[in-house]
Amino acid sequence: LDLIEINEDASLPAAVPIKVRNVQDHLETRVVVQGWVHRFRLQKGLAFLTIRDGSGLIQAVLSGDLAKWKVTQQLTLESTIAIKGMVHKLPEGKTAPGGVELQADFYQVIGLAPAGDDSITNKVPSDASPSLLMDNRHLALRGDALSAVMKVRAALLKSVRRFFDEENLTEVTPPCMVQTQVEGGSTLFKMSYYGEDAFLTQSSQLYLETCLPSLGDVYCIQESFRAEQSHTRRHLSEYTHIESELAFISFDDMLNHLERLLTKSVEYVLADPIAGPLVKQLNPNFVAPKQPFKRMEYIQALEWLNEHEIPNEEGEKFKFGDDIAEAAERRMVDTIGVPIFLIRFPAEIKSFYMKRCKDDPRVTESVDVLMPNVGEIVGGSMRMEDYDELMTSMKKEGLDPTPYYWFLDLRKYGTCPHGGYGLGTERILAWLCDRFTVRDCSLYPRFTGRCKP
Ligand code: 4AD
Repeated sequence: LDLIEINEDASLPAAVPIKVRNVQDHLETRVVVQGWVHRFRLQKGLAFLTIRDGSGLIQAVLSGDLAKWKVTQQLTLESTIAIKGMVHKLPEGKTAPGGVELQADFYQVIGLAPAGDDSITNKVPSDASPSLLMDNRHLALRGDALSAVMKVRAALLKSVRRFFDEENLTEVTPPCMVQTQVEGGSTLFKMSYYGEDAFLTQSSQLYLETCLPSLGDVYCIQESFRAEQSHTRRHLSEYTHIESELAFISFDDMLNHLERLLTKSVEYVLADPIAGPLVKQLNPNFVAPKQPFKRMEYIQALEWLNEHEIPNEEGEKFKFGDDIAEAAERRMVDTIGVPIFLIRFPAEIKSFYMKRCKDDPRVTESVDVLMPNVGEIVGGSMRMEDYDELMTSMKKEGLDPTPYYWFLDLRKYGTCPHGGYGLGTERILAWLCDRFTVRDCSLYPRFTGRCKP
C-alpha cells in the first residue's frame, strides 16, 4: 500500500474553484474545494470526509486507490486540503450537508494537523471543562454550535444596520477612551491616558446625544466595557453595544421604534439564507416576536411579583424603590413567556440623566426590554432636557459636572426632547440562539479572570 502513488489525471476537465456555500450552482461539475477536515471516517475501503471552508460543509467520498493511499490513511482532523472531484446530488434516502457529495478524484494536503497527544480531539475533547474550552477558544470556535452562533451574529448586525438605514439613522463611531461615566462608577475600567485618568466607555450614549444637532437621529455599534464583579451568565466585561439616539420624539415614539427594531431585525435574520436555518437548528422552538409587545409598568411588576410570592433581594415582599434583580426578573419573564417592555422605573434606581414622568415625578420615562430565558436585553429612556434639572441630578449623584461640559452644552445650545437605548448584542443573541450564557455569543468573551486568548 505504501507504494501507491496518486497523481492528478491530466485528462480530466479543469476543476472550478468554489466556496461550499455556492455548491448548488456547480452540480455535475468538476470543482476544487479548499478547507479543513471537519469529520473523517474510513469504512469498507472508502473514506468519507466532511470539509469545512467557513462558508459551509460538504461531504467528500474517496474510493479505490485514493482511499487506500498512505496520505489518506494518515490524514487527521483539522488538516487543510484542496480536494477535486465531481459534485453529485445525493440519491433519495442518503443525507449529507446540502444534499450533495463530492466524488473525489484527487486531493493535496496543504497543512497536516497533529495526530496523537496534540490532536484537536485532545485539545478540545467533547467533555472539556468550560475553562479548557476558553483557553482553546481559537480551536473551539471551529465547532458547529459556536460557528453557527457567530454566523447568526453577523446576520444580526447586518439586519440591525439595515433597519437603521430604513429608518434614516446615521451611523457614527464615538470614542472608546473617555473621561466621563454613564452607568455608575462601580463598573468603570480605569486607565492611564498619558498620565491622565481615563476610562473605557460604558456606553456611547452621551456622545450620541451630542450628534443630534448635527446629524439628526444616530446609532452606533461599538464595544462597551463594564468592570462587573458578578459572575453571571449574562454579564461580560466587554460587549458589543448597539445604541441609538432619536431627536424630537415622545416616550411612546421611542417604544414604538424599539418594537420595530426588535421585530424587523429578527425577521431579517430569519429570512437570511445562511442565518435563518441556523437559528432553527440552534433554537427549534423559537417564535418570532410580534407587535405590539406587552407593556408593564414597574409598579405593576411589583404587584405581579408579590402575587406570585417571588421575594426581593432581602427575601421580603417587593416595595416601591426596590431593584428587581436578575433572578426575580427572569422568573417573571419566563413565567409570562413573551417579551415585555418594563417601563416607568423609580428615579432613584435608574441613571442620573433619565427624564421624569409628568404625571408621576417619582418615576422616569424609562424602559427595560425583557426576553424569556435571558431577561433584560435593552435599557433605554428619554433624557432630561433641562440644563438646571440635569445639573441638579448630576450633583445629587455625586458627579463633578466639569468633565461633562460638552454634554451639558447640549441643553444650553438648543435643547430638544430626545431619547435612546442600548441593546446588548450578546444578550439578544442568547435569546435568539437559545444559548445558556452570553459567553457563547461573543467571539472571545471577556469576564472576570478571563482576558485571553
Ligand atoms: O441598561 P444599560 O446599562 O444602559 C445603558 O448603557 C444606556 N446608557 C444605553 C443607552 O440608553 N444608550 O445597558 C444597555 C444594555 C443592557 O440592556 C444589556 O443588554 C447590555 O447593554 N449590557 C450588557 N451586556 C453584557 N454584559 C454586560 N456587563 C452588560 N451590561 C449591559
